[in-house]
Formats: sequence, C-alpha cells, structure tokens
Amino acid sequence: MSDHSSGLAHGYPYLFDRQALRAQLAVVDRIPGVAKPDPILKVSNMEREFGGLKAVDVRHLEVQRGAITALIGPNGAGKTTFFNLITGFDRPSASHSGPTGWEFNGRSLKHTGAATVARSGMVRTFQLTKVLSRMTVVDNMMLGAQDQPGEGFLLSFLRPVWGPRDKAIRERALELLQRFKLYEKKDDYAGSLSGGQRKLLEMARALMSNPSLVMLDEPMAGVNPALTQSLLDHVQELRDDGTTVLFVEHDMHMVRFISDWVVVMAEGRIVAEAPPAEVMKDQAVIDAYLGAHHDTDLGDDALLAEGESLDALVAQGAGQITRRGRGARQDG
Ligand SMILES: Nc1ncnc2c1ncn2[C@@H]1O[C@H](COP(=O)(O)OP(=O)(O)OP(=O)(O)O)[C@@H](O)[C@H]1O
Ligand SMILES: [Mg+2]
Repeated sequence: MSDHSSGLAHGYPYLFDRQALRAQLAVVDRIPGVAKPDPILKVSNMEREFGGLKAVDVRHLEVQRGAITALIGPNGAGKTTFFNLITGFDRPSASHSGPTGWEFNGRSLKHTGAATVARSGMVRTFQLTKVLSRMTVVDNMMLGAQDQPGEGFLLSFLRPVWGPRDKAIRERALELLQRFKLYEKKDDYAGSLSGGQRKLLEMARALMSNPSLVMLDEPMAGVNPALTQSLLDHVQELRDDGTTVLFVEHDMHMVRFISDWVVVMAEGRIVAEAPPAEVMKDQAVIDAYLGAHHDTDLGDDALLAEGESLDALVAQGAGQITRRGRGARQDG
C-alpha cells in the first residue's frame, strides 16, 4: 500500500468499503459537473481547440476519491484529449467561460508538466501503449519508478544501467510483475509481449510510483478475452487498496461491471453523470451515442423507443458500432 493511496492515512475508512462508497455516491445529484462528497480531482473551465474544433469544453468535473469512475462517450468525444490536459501532456486553450483551473489532492496543477503531475501521484496509461519495445519488461517497470515515459522517449534506444541503490525499486518491480502475472516474462523484450500483456505491463508500470489516482485510457482495447478477467480484477483491487481509478472505456460490460460512477462526454462536454445502472437510461446519453452514429443501422429501432436504451444497444453489439470511424491518428 502506498503513502499516497492509503485510505487510512487519509482518514477515509470507507475507501475499503465498496458498499459505503456507493451509498455516498447514490445520493449525489445526477447533474453534469455535480460536486462530490470527497473529490480527489476538480476541474473547471477546461477547453481545448484544434483549429476551429472544440475538442474539450468542460465546465466542471469532480472525481470522487477512492471510486472507480468511468469516462465514456462516442469516438472523438474528447476523452483522450481531456486525459492529456489534466495530466500535463497537453495545454488547455484560453477558456471562454471563466478561469481555467484544476486541482489534484487540493493542489493546483495548472502550470505543472507531465513529470511533476506524475510525481504528485496522478499517473495515466495511454490508449496506444507506450511500452518500450527494445527494453526488457523489468527495465520498463523500473523506468516507471522515475518518470512517465512520454512520446519520442529517447531512452528506448539506451539500455539503462541500474545501480545497487535501485535494489528496492527492482524488488517492487518484480512484486508487481508477479501480481500482474508477467514475472516469467521479466527478462524478455517488451516488444515480444502480446497486446494484452503490454496493457498489463503499462498498468503495472503506472503503479511503480505509488499513485493515488490512476487514469487508464481504454485498458481493455485489444485485450484477449483470456486476460480480460484479470484486468478487471486488477482495477478492482486498486480501488479496494484505496487507489482512485478514472478510466476511459468503450466496453459497456466493463463499465457496468466495475465502475462506481460514470461520466459521459460528448462533443467535448460532460453531458451526464450517474451510477452505472442509471446512466445508460439517460436521454442525453442515448442522444449522444445515437447522434454520433446516425449513419449506422442500429438494428431494431423499437428497442430504443421502448426505453431499453444503451443496454439494448450494447447487447446488440453497439460495442462494435462505437468503434466505427476510429482513425489511424496516434494520440498522446
Ligand atoms: N492533436 C490533435 N490535432 C487535431 N485534432 C485533434 C488532436 N487530438 C485530438 N483531436 C481531435 O479532437 C477530438 C477529440 O479527440 P479525442 O482523441 O480526445 O477523442 P476520444 O474521445 O478519445 O475518442 P476515441 O474514443 O476514439 O479514443 C477529435 O475530433 C479529434 O480528431
Ligand atoms: Mg481516446
């Protein structure tokens, strides 16, 4: 258990009690941008424009400490861009609706770069994994203890030499590799891992710095079904250890199964927030998904007319539909 993440250290024993946590969230208003009982992250007036397109336009968002929050929305909704902004991998544009600000654990991150954000306890993984193929699995892990590897990371061409003082770091790396069932691969090049194993490695690496908030961008994408359950278990274990999790995911089954709260983004804005069982029935959410895929044959329209909502869509394979139109664009 980490210094950052220990629920007891924060004096919030409910972190270890999922029912109590959910009971707290159950009474939160279902209003986009609503205040949370105990937010670890607060974001206000965050905008990002690319050319004329407003990719992110978030008035206010709070993320509850100790919870698993899912950030969902159609392709191009701005989820990854939002992650990039709050973790210092991108900078917000000038806001038209009030002062931009975001606070993590009560500390402003407004002018903070990615490495400092990571050191302050907020760590993210990438939609397209950034494990360093030419390094071994364990060396990838040990880098996670230092800084987060960003884009164009030159170290991928170097082999780091670890000194004796890194023994403790190595021990932690091996312990996490055990937990993520990658121990047997520790001396293999990361490039030899399967897509799912890379996702696991990236998640394990994110934990090297003992974060209090882990942000996962599509942790399940490309993961072989055999690894799916262990990924779900890992995410829930994190929450049960007191780590806050914010994850982007298109797989509605995963969203329903593990999240305590769901935030929905469409065209850059937060359009709905609610517990998972309710959010799929929200008209704004149905509109956001249907609006984004108005060119798509969704099958039986009557299902929607009967208020079966996204659950019905998902049951019919909307998980596939939401992936249409995904470009080859490399993101942050
Ligand atoms: N670097 C960039 N330059 C120009 N436009 C960008 C850039 N990054 C993102 N965009 C645009 O911003 C919008 C939001 O993209 P973003 O990747 O954040 O969406 P997303 O919700 O993560 O989508 P997906 O579910 O497909 O990953 C899209 O219209 C995208 O094309
Ligand atoms: Mg994305």
